[in-house]
Amino acid sequence: MDKILVQGGHRLVGTVQVSGAKNAALPILASALLCDGPNTFTNVPILRDIQSTLQLLSHLGARCDMQGHTVQVDAGGLNTHEAPYDLVRKMRASILVLGPLVARLKKARVSLPGGCAIGARPINLHLRGLELLGAQIDLSHGYVEASCERLRGAEIYFDMVTVTGTENIMMAAVLAEGRTVLRNAACEPEVTALADVLNKMGARIQGAGTPEIVIQGVEQLHPISAAIISDRIEAGTLMTAAALTQGDVIVQGAEPENLEAVIHKLRLAGTQVDVNGNQIRVQGQRPIHSVDVKTLPYPGFPTDMQAQFMVLMTVARGSCLISETIFENRFIHVSELQRMGADIAVTGNSALIKGVARLSGAPVMASDLRASACLILAGLVADNTTEVNRVYHLDRGYEALEVKFQQLGAAIRRAKA
Ligand code: EPZ
Repeated sequence: MDKILVQGGHRLVGTVQVSGAKNAALPILASALLCDGPNTFTNVPILRDIQSTLQLLSHLGARCDMQGHTVQVDAGGLNTHEAPYDLVRKMRASILVLGPLVARLKKARVSLPGGCAIGARPINLHLRGLELLGAQIDLSHGYVEASCERLRGAEIYFDMVTVTGTENIMMAAVLAEGRTVLRNAACEPEVTALADVLNKMGARIQGAGTPEIVIQGVEQLHPISAAIISDRIEAGTLMTAAALTQGDVIVQGAEPENLEAVIHKLRLAGTQVDVNGNQIRVQGQRPIHSVDVKTLPYPGFPTDMQAQFMVLMTVARGSCLISETIFENRFIHVSELQRMGADIAVTGNSALIKGVARLSGAPVMASDLRASACLILAGLVADNTTEVNRVYHLDRGYEALEVKFQQLGAAIRRAKA
């Protein structure tokens, strides 16, 4: 297992390119199951989660090839409808093959993904949506078994906003007979990116990016080429690092319109943020002001940025409240930040943060993807050295983050644990 060593106190200065979005690439790769023939996707980030997805698609019989940031997936030769536990357990987003398999093969047997560090992560809304589309759903021996004659369009209301739930049902509905309406659908940019790819394949989807999505089923889809949108969470992470270190960083290739909540909160914290096309210049200022944050479904402040923004607040002047409304256990990073000298008190789904003058470097343990990034950010501003262990979490969702920080002037390196 690798670890990352960070020597604090270096300003980040320079220009950094944002990679493709993990949370757009995962559903888009799964959507290749819906049609015969070679789909080509560019700007795909080089991540463990992408490798896991390609491994699963290959297991199902698709031909997958990744050369650099370009991926080809040809699902013409699907030869099984089963996604086994030993593959699904590596990445719960594997559940995204469920909708496409039912739509394409009329049956699927997918291991239940189970929970993870940040929460139970149930998929009841995914299953309810498939039932409303006419699938027979059985749960047995830790697997979901779904089957149907042919999916039929339906009106589906999600009683909680679910990103992959919206994506799974949208992918199932594109080949259903008739019209499907999704209500209280997720509005995340990654949902819109998936809809754009499906429409390019010949689907008929309207309203993606709004709470009501209308899908007119079609007989079949055809393979396409498409580019993956940039990763707004990686961009937000890089911007927060610039704010933390009083840096001056240009984040290149981001989509500012997808980062409004993050830009708004950084500006309230006193950071200078200038947007120029797909370049976002971030100049960190002192003092950092304390700012309350509540995580919400898009376009609210993203839960995937909560841990990173918390680091900024630990060295702000004043006190603030961060409320996590999406996941029930997404404060695991707090105890590690406290070990670095942060003054944080957690009550239920809220954390009260009182700014301190400095954090102190320490050996810390990453628990999940975004907590890993948060601990690296803390190391950038802590005195002495911070050693972040279990960085395999980081490699799931950030492409060479430490290299990007090195190029911006951070004293950071990867080492064998
Ligand atoms: C997606 O997860 C993202 N992952 C997560 O990013 C992100 O944090 C999350 O959306 C929220 O924005 C991918 O896109 C691959 P949800 P997802 O379904 O779809 C509850 C990262 O760090 N719920 O929107 O699994 C659920 O428990 C990851 O990149 C049900 O109760 O999240 C949660 O409380 C972490 N039943 C809330 O809804 C369901 O059937 C939102 O979850 C589905 C969800």
